Amino acid sequence: VNDPQGPAQPRTRADWEARYQTGNTPWDLGGAPPVLGRALAALGPGRGRRALVPGAGPGHDALAFARAGWATTAVDIAPSACAALRKRAARAGLPVDVLEADVLDLPASLRSRFDVAWEQTCLCALPPESREAYVRVLRDALRPDGLLLALLWNHGQPGGPPYDLPPGLARTLLAPCFDEVGVETLPPQTSGRQGEYLLRLRPRR
Ligand SMILES: C[S@@+](CC[C@H](N)C(=O)[O-])C[C@H]1O[C@@H](n2cnc3c(N)ncnc32)[C@H](O)[C@@H]1O
Repeated sequence: VNDPQGPAQPRTRADWEARYQTGNTPWDLGGAPPVLGRALAALGPGRGRRALVPGAGPGHDALAFARAGWATTAVDIAPSACAALRKRAARAGLPVDVLEADVLDLPASLRSRFDVAWEQTCLCALPPESREAYVRVLRDALRPDGLLLALLWNHGQPGGPPYDLPPGLARTLLAPCFDEVGVETLPPQTSGRQGEYLLRLRPRR
């Protein structure tokens, strides 16, 4: 039977697109998590510095970066998510560059381009066999002095997506490409989900 909402565990572009077309997007928290507001305040005004938001989905986080003055690129594989984000950005008068693409296959022009990459529920949405490649993409997209802010989710449930990312597993995945420079465990009111933590990482080449 062809479920119009797509499979329970989306993997392909068509699966994610079906979720947006049917409005089955439980990850949409309706706004950026408060921890992003704090992180942006700590980073200071963007002043045209470049931010990458992979798997941006509804785009609340990308809009928050743009609002803070960052030259923001949002990437998502689902055409409907990209179209909706373009509309939101236009309505808000915010210049977000929305790229409909597979994060595992970013254009070469985006290499070494970003000062900050913001990861929220993209890593945990990807098929586990794609994780190492995704971590390399994040590293390669950042400038040598760039920063990866990864809001990761240790929900403790089997299966996925979203796949559980306990800190030990996240560190194993990130260690080949990044040095950890900070970690913060978050109470739900400062993130959006129970069991989230924020890693700060510097790319290593
Ligand atoms: C769980 S949602 C999270 C969306 C957003 N980060 C948020 O927190 O609201 C995962 C997003 O990643 C996108 N996605 C999944 N696989 C992708 C891929 N290979 N390349 C780009 N985007 C992808 C989906 O379309 C979806 O919008």
